[in-house]
Amino acid sequence: MHTLEAPPNGDKAATYSELVKSLSALLEGEPDLVACAANMSALLYWSLPDLNWCGFYLVEPGSGDLVLGPFQGKPACVRIPVGRGVCGTAAARRETVLVIDVHDFPGHIACDTASNSEVVVPILDGDRLIGVLDLDSPRHARFDETDARGLEALVSVFVAAIAGDQRRSSGVSGGDAASTSI
Ligand code: SME
Repeated sequence: MHTLEAPPNGDKAATYSELVKSLSALLEGEPDLVACAANMSALLYWSLPDLNWCGFYLVEPGSGDLVLGPFQGKPACVRIPVGRGVCGTAAARRETVLVIDVHDFPGHIACDTASNSEVVVPILDGDRLIGVLDLDSPRHARFDETDARGLEALVSVFVAAIAGDQRRSSGVSGGDAASTSI
């Protein structure tokens, strides 16, 4: 059973450093995308404070849509076209999108009315878009640049773990990841 060491005094960057170690240990030697995504969503949901949803939308080969993957939280919308909502925007831009208040984001897709802020990190293996990691919070302005960089580091661990598995399926080509606050 995996356990996360307590973060030093609410130091967010230190929390993410610990989470990178924990996730690396959790995913080590396992390339299965669904297994890795399931454990990663559970690790983050049960380790980070003030979340009401944490999970994956994965690129569906063929349509290119983002389709609901492993998650923790309430049932969510299943299919999001690239370019729609916060998830589709992060996928289209290939950059992390921080949303201080989801009610101010044009086209935000409300899956859980409890959500007030959100961060979405694209998952890229080189130029190939695999999907996005989406975290929601009932707290306004819950996520900041430290969260964005920490989550991007965690996504890199995830991509490294599943590299072998993903080479067996197709994705959508794109550019490099960066970050936007909205
Ligand atoms: N709010 C997201 C939809 C997914 S749910 O938050 C789980 C969006 O606007 O893309």
